[in-house]
Amino acid sequence: MVTKINPAQMKQIVKEVGSPAFIYIEATISDNIARVRRAISNSGIQNKVNLYVSYFANSNPHIAAILANEEVGLTLQSIEENEQLEAHNLKSIPRIVSSTHLSRKDLEYFLKGNLQVNYATLSNLEEALKRGVNNLSIRVDLSPDSNQRQGIKPEQFNKVCRILNRNNRKLCGIHIYPGTKNKLEVHLRYQVKGLECLSIFQSLKEINLGGGFNYDYELVDGHFDWASYFIELKKRIDEFKVPKDIIFSIEPGRDILADTGLLIVQVNGIEKIVGKSAYEVFTDGSYVQMPSATIGQRQHRLSFYNSRFQEIICGLINEKAGYLSGNTTLSSDRLFPGIVYFPSSLKEGDYIILEDVGAYCATQHMDFLNKSSCPEAIIRKNGSLELITERGKMTDKIRNVLQSPWEIGGRK
Ligand SMILES: Cc1ncc(COP(=O)(O)O)c(C=O)c1O
Repeated sequence: MVTKINPAQMKQIVKEVGSPAFIYIEATISDNIARVRRAISNSGIQNKVNLYVSYFANSNPHIAAILANEEVGLTLQSIEENEQLEAHNLKSIPRIVSSTHLSRKDLEYFLKGNLQVNYATLSNLEEALKRGVNNLSIRVDLSPDSNQRQGIKPEQFNKVCRILNRNNRKLCGIHIYPGTKNKLEVHLRYQVKGLECLSIFQSLKEINLGGGFNYDYELVDGHFDWASYFIELKKRIDEFKVPKDIIFSIEPGRDILADTGLLIVQVNGIEKIVGKSAYEVFTDGSYVQMPSATIGQRQHRLSFYNSRFQEIICGLINEKAGYLSGNTTLSSDRLFPGIVYFPSSLKEGDYIILEDVGAYCATQHMDFLNKSSCPEAIIRKNGSLELITERGKMTDKIRNVLQSPWEIGGRK
């Protein structure tokens, strides 16, 4: 992230909501969307690509509202997600459902809401046909070894055609998922694989190229190479002589949101680990506030501030090596794995900023270890600071535990 936050803003937010706290930057969300749109129009295929963002990559309705203002749609995968958006009056945002196999009940819910669903299994497709759905789209698994959990496999494509013919219907769309954190090369392969499907499903009007576009957390600007991606897509469209009325969709999450957020934690103490040269940097954070970094063995870039929010520069001369320690008893509670370097003057009361935490971080907060979730604030484009999520309550973990047990079958 090229940080669009100044220390005075961080200071004000922490003064009001404490730490740890997530902060998002509205301007960066817009910049990231603009980058993708610029790449689309520079490649000469403007008006041919719909942009959706996966809601679960962040799951904050206030962030979803910004996306709605930018005229970006959302990819959903569960009823809960749709209910969350509706609860925040975001019913008008374009939504597509790219889920796994849906239960009859879930499928009925989405159909009632008139949401376009990319059906992930043959039985879901048949159920949709039974219910008279016209605009039929399927999720396809085009991975080399057909091992994706979601998606109809190429071996089943003939069966799809038979089912559709029997019902006198045509397929309108396919949805492809290249897998998460993939580099350009992998996505280009999936473009080709997607276009090859046109020879089987000739009635297609939409090819959804899915999400999974890599964001490189080690770089200051780690964005996916959208320019090359769309230039190549344009080339393929020409090579495959793709009919003019076919549109494409993409549904990135990480690339649009990762560098829009940061996490502030405070240092509680620093101790040298006995027998080692590394230090334990104790903080008020925990891995449960952004578990995907630990699960994905991912580090985040750091910056350091003293208690008055003056930056402490970490250079090769004055640095120490250590671990970012969480504040629970779990032996593996480090904010993320591995050694980090910190300024040797860092002390109790100073702050550490973890960058690029706008995607798959606060949204994955775990109740495990009983830590309350972090508040989320946003810096608006006009510079105003707003709290969009309160700090979780101490008792959140047990919020659904009943004061007195109910007798099962005893309630009328
Ligand atoms: C169907 C679908 N679309 C989009 C995404 C977003 O992927 P990413 O955030 O890696 O771009 C995912 C992620 O799992 C997904 O499953």
